[in-house]
Amino acid sequence: MLPDLAGDPYRTVLARLHAALKPKTYFEIGTLGGATLGLAKCSSVAVDPRFGIKDTGVILNKPTCLLFQQTSDDFFAANKLTDLFGANVDFAFLDGMHKCEFLLRDFINTERQSHKNTMIVLHDCIPTEIPMTGRDGIDGKAEAPHRRGWWTGDVWRTLWALMQFRPDLSITALDAKPTGLILITNLHPTSTRLSNQYPEIEKAMLEATLSDIGIENWQALIKVESTGNYASDDQILAKFAFDRH
Ligand SMILES: C[S@@+](CC[C@H](N)C(=O)[O-])C[C@H]1O[C@@H](n2cnc3c(N)ncnc32)[C@H](O)[C@@H]1O
Repeated sequence: MLPDLAGDPYRTVLARLHAALKPKTYFEIGTLGGATLGLAKCSSVAVDPRFGIKDTGVILNKPTCLLFQQTSDDFFAANKLTDLFGANVDFAFLDGMHKCEFLLRDFINTERQSHKNTMIVLHDCIPTEIPMTGRDGIDGKAEAPHRRGWWTGDVWRTLWALMQFRPDLSITALDAKPTGLILITNLHPTSTRLSNQYPEIEKAMLEATLSDIGIENWQALIKVESTGNYASDDQILAKFAFDRH
């Protein structure tokens, strides 16, 4: 079991990214009460099979906001983000089903509708103990008493697969509380590397184990950085300054 991550809370970090990058279009998978959807002030599309939004401010602070109450797989089977926005996605937060193959499909489908300078952010890929990584959200919960209810699932495996199969991506891992944020840029919307090898990648992902890698080695492998390195607009733009369109 590792100590808690030392960085700023993930929603604080997301708020800083919104403020610095000023996306024109925001896409979110996994919304629940809307705490992360509410951070976006631009045209937004959100997908969740069970929305729990009670605060209308989450929606009313944007020019447009489309909510799709369905799974992300069903959403992508029937919709094109580029049609909904009339543009590609600038910024995406993928925080839906916490199983690695679901997040891999969410990444593949989102990247297809991105542009090179889109940022896709993944949640929960830096677990601090193995019990929180179980694939069953009810049985796989954390052991430390103050972490009861924390469930990362095995989405760390999706990050592992992206590192193995997509070395062209730029990946920045941040120690955001409680279980990390992964910022992915240098996207290639026409890449078919993941979709063409999907069955093989899924098999390889499911065979990778954190016990073999070592939970502390995982943090070294993904080069976890302090959220303090990305606390100001200048710091964020120094790393992610690109023509956003
Ligand atoms: C951890 S919560 C999202 C929390 C929110 N992003 C935040 O930070 O406040 C995960 C959400 O994913 C949704 N979810 C579960 N399975 C999903 C799926 N297959 N597709 C899309 N969303 C899913 C759940 O209904 C739940 O609301």
